[in-house]
Amino acid sequence: MKENEKIIDRWIESATYWEKHRDTIDAMFAPVTQALIQDGAAGQVAGKTILDVATGQGEPALTLARLAGPTGSIFGVDPVPAMVEAARREATRRQLTNVQFQVAFADSLPFPANTCDVVLSRFGVMFFPSPLEGIREMLRVLKPGGGIAAAVWGFADRNPFHYIFSRVMDRYVPSPPPEPGALDAFRFAVPGELLNVFQMAGAVETSERLVQFQIQTSLSPEDFWTMRCDISEKFRSKLAGLTADQAAEVQQEVLTATRTHSANDLISFPAEIHVVSGRKL
Ligand SMILES: C[S@@+](CC[C@H](N)C(=O)[O-])C[C@H]1O[C@@H](n2cnc3c(N)ncnc32)[C@H](O)[C@@H]1O
Repeated sequence: MKENEKIIDRWIESATYWEKHRDTIDAMFAPVTQALIQDGAAGQVAGKTILDVATGQGEPALTLARLAGPTGSIFGVDPVPAMVEAARREATRRQLTNVQFQVAFADSLPFPANTCDVVLSRFGVMFFPSPLEGIREMLRVLKPGGGIAAAVWGFADRNPFHYIFSRVMDRYVPSPPPEPGALDAFRFAVPGELLNVFQMAGAVETSERLVQFQIQTSLSPEDFWTMRCDISEKFRSKLAGLTADQAAEVQQEVLTATRTHSANDLISFPAEIHVVSGRKL
């Protein structure tokens, strides 16, 4: 299977689940969108032309469309047609007329050079086969002086949203650490690595910010378990390989750990991400 087909294959099943859990995902990662807007667009999006690369089910593009107003133009791209269809459905449901979604890979964006004021990506760059080519292409479509920003996960062991599942699951289905450069959620957890890619791609005035926030959702621990298994292709496939008894044990252990982060119907996890930003010369 070719690299691009593998990417689509990996994400296609997730599209249904990311759409199903859209409201929860929106709430959990709203602080990430705010950090991207702050660092990539100096907090100013009204009337801007903004591209969201690896938009998935449409975030942050849909949030940007609401904030940018009628004179703004928002574009979102993702290589997985089912993700793009989900994003379009939501734009229609919200009656947003200033946002468009297209199927595209990050390293081949269907836009002329020098057309966007801002280019952003939330939790996408770590999955690009060549992050350098992806960031170069994002810079190509950016106007001179325009802002670029990407959000990626910090270390797994600083993010209980991930590790309360992975630590339990790894005891049942051991997984070797990913090879360097593997398309993994924590590929850019080491500070400076994505910053270096931005600089190699030609971005100027680059910076990296560690953003600490709370991932919050008003789900019960049981509903959180369902949502978390649904949206992670890794957990779904590992769970599918367990016996019913093992799966029940994993669920109980994860629920117990989740309850330590849950009070008054609110689940709240401390989280750490890096937001890397820069400008086009
Ligand atoms: C973790 S999801 C993030 C979705 C959304 N941006 C959000 O934060 O909710 C990662 C997305 O990256 C997309 N993706 C994977 N490889 C890509 C590539 N080479 N170019 C562009 N997007 C890619 C996937 O299809 C998926 O929708």
